[in-house]
Amino acid sequence: MFGNKAIKAALLITVLGFLGLTLSTQASAACNLVSTKDGSPLPVKASETDTPQAKSFLETCINPYTKAYAADPTLVKAGGKKLFGYNGCSGCHGGKLEGVMAPSLSKNGGQGAYDGRWVYAKDSTDKGMFETISGGTPGVSGGTMYIWHQSLDGHIGDGLATDDILKIIGYIRAEYKGDGTKDWLK
Ligand code: HEC
Repeated sequence: MFGNKAIKAALLITVLGFLGLTLSTQASAACNLVSTKDGSPLPVKASETDTPQAKSFLETCINPYTKAYAADPTLVKAGGKKLFGYNGCSGCHGGKLEGVMAPSLSKNGGQGAYDGRWVYAKDSTDKGMFETISGGTPGVSGGTMYIWHQSLDGHIGDGLATDDILKIIGYIRAEYKGDGTKDWLK
């Protein structure tokens, strides 16, 4: 009967279409970054000079430095800590991440409203913190953060490469003194 064949054909097409979709999604699996300012897609671009760690992060959203620094704290000083100082982050966040004219990043429980918790809850994930540092913020705490990623329009100065931002995040994680589970180590 014509109905039966047509249904079978339609089913086959649906199944094939579904398989194709699944395969193509897997083939282009990438870390879908969104802006902390407004939730829109954050167009961070890969670069030819990206390190293997940076390439891996842009695919998986997992920061390889976070666990590497936790396992071997001697890596922190020459890595993320140095970059944090060089790029002037300490001018606002303090040399020990304690918060000076910006929220504490060690969440050491200082006087400010955000010295014990994240201004943006998503900053408890490495993906979220990468988005915050890369693309800037809307100013919930009263001040705003610059755009830092060198591939984004409006970035400050020379900007930072993906690898630099990942190392800095590794340093911030290593210095964390706040409450709660360290989700980024899971
Ligand atoms: C001119 C001052 C200034 C400098 C320099 C600066 N920041 Fe910030 N940063 C801020 C302010 C202000 C906020 C709070 C933003 C908001 O409320 O939207 C902030 C927020 C953050 C947050 C989110 C904190 C949270 O609690 O969720 C991170 C992470 C951060 N900054 C990292 C950095 C890093 C890394 C650098 C250097 C590459 C840097 N900042 C340089 C002022 C600064």
